[in-house]
Amino acid sequence: MKITKICCIGAGYVGGPTMAVIAQKCPHIQVTVVDLNEQRIADWNDPNPENIPIYEPGLSEIVAEARGRNLFFSTEVDKAIDEAQMIFISVNTPTKTYGKGKGMAADLKYIELCARQIARVAKQNKIVVEKSTLPVRTAEAIKSILDNTGNGVQFQILSNPEFLAEGTAVTDLLNPDRILIGGDTTEEGEEAINALVDVYSNWVSRDKILTTNVWSSELSKLTANAFLAQRISSINAMSELCEKTGADVNEVARAIGMDSRIGPKFLKASVGFGGSCFQKDILNLVYIAKSYGLNEVADYWEQVIIMNDHQKRRFSNKIVQTLYNTVADKKIAFLGWAFKKDTNDTRESAAIYVADDLINEQAKISVFDPKVSKSKMLNDLDYLETRTSQENIKALNSFENAYEACKGAHAIAILTEWDEFKTYDWKKIYDSMHKPAFVFDGRNILNAKELESIGFVYNGIGS
Ligand code: NAD
Ligand code: UDX
Repeated sequence: MKITKICCIGAGYVGGPTMAVIAQKCPHIQVTVVDLNEQRIADWNDPNPENIPIYEPGLSEIVAEARGRNLFFSTEVDKAIDEAQMIFISVNTPTKTYGKGKGMAADLKYIELCARQIARVAKQNKIVVEKSTLPVRTAEAIKSILDNTGNGVQFQILSNPEFLAEGTAVTDLLNPDRILIGGDTTEEGEEAINALVDVYSNWVSRDKILTTNVWSSELSKLTANAFLAQRISSINAMSELCEKTGADVNEVARAIGMDSRIGPKFLKASVGFGGSCFQKDILNLVYIAKSYGLNEVADYWEQVIIMNDHQKRRFSNKIVQTLYNTVADKKIAFLGWAFKKDTNDTRESAAIYVADDLINEQAKISVFDPKVSKSKMLNDLDYLETRTSQENIKALNSFENAYEACKGAHAIAILTEWDEFKTYDWKKIYDSMHKPAFVFDGRNILNAKELESIGFVYNGIGS
């Protein structure tokens, strides 16, 4: 099947950038991204591409090029499903907050709604592509919904997980390490796989396009995220041991990373990983393993999350202990709120949990993040339901620049590794703070010696 029209359900951090790149690289394909969220679609259609709802380096330029040509954002979900030969499902699959599997399993209600909507609307054969990260064997459930419509339409389900990381989404999409496509091993399944291979091969070389069975593809995505997160928890575990022994975790990471079997990436000790994926996907993996009675497998992976929670808590405890065991009414300045640099996404950011702990200790938090609004920060805190919104408003303030946020602070905590933090006039910041002036560098990005020579008391992770 030659694909000329694609629809993507879900205009979020994955659907938006992924479809923008497909549209840019495949001008012969009309790509329509649909969402129930009217505001989100209105933002994607904002005449000024700088105002699109997701900040990713390079994304606004691609949207500016393709939008209105062969890239469209719309709330008309039925129409887009009806017209497309290939439908990507890229809706959110958060951790369940209710019922069986609460706090562990992936909530598939949005996926099921999409499947039912496709089943209701489709009048011609379609290829349905799972772009969302899903538990292994979800394709079976989707197929069962689609095959029971009684209208004779044939569906092929493919799994095509997305490996982009936020902050580098555009370069990851343009130069992926690999594209993974899982499908049925039948003739029709292979035809569907080839149709999607043809889309990607407009810009990705064939040897990087991997095809597998559906279950391997679904499980590879959970596995990749579990392995990546495990590296971070492993180095973070070592960071605590470094602090006790005089070893320096940056030196340890460098030393082990030069072993070509280990490799240097993803070994940065930090205040803990955040983001919408790692925790959710590992919890889901743990849940799946438990549901098959594989308790040792489940416990093994759960430890990655336990270690990460410990790392976040350890950071806030260290701030309290170092500040003479009390932060009550002290101003603690946070540099960064996003879960990593170069994104405005704050989902599961370590900053939220550290702030929550410190507010419990009655600290006043003043935040500067180059891309995150105060209302988003307050929403993140409200979501934890630790205290009332009014109390959060009293406890947290946000500023338009870092110098204002740090003025009169007792301590600064670096929560996100934004590059600009390294270039500040740290002497000016020091002069405006209470003394002794403490820095807790949760990302190990600042020059400890330089800060200490200014007069700061510097605390990094793992040294
Ligand atoms: P998101 O919350 O940013 O976007 C999902 C969008 O889907 C929302 O705008 C929501 O309104 C929309 N939606 C939900 N149900 C809908 C429906 N029935 N019809 C139309 N629209 C609907 O989520 P995201 O970060 O883009 O993640 C999407 C999926 O991709 C998840 O499964 C996630 O695990 C996976 N993933 C995310 C990343 C990442 O970096 N964020 C990377 C790889 C994979
Ligand atoms: C992750 C995966 O990398 C990506 O392949 C998948 O598609 C989605 O989930 P993302 O969460 O966007 O991507 O960002 P990532 O770069 O993986 O960082 C996740 C968290 O780990 C961030 O909070 C980051 O600061 C932290 N991290 C990363 C570390 O603490 N140390 C590291 O060495 C690397």
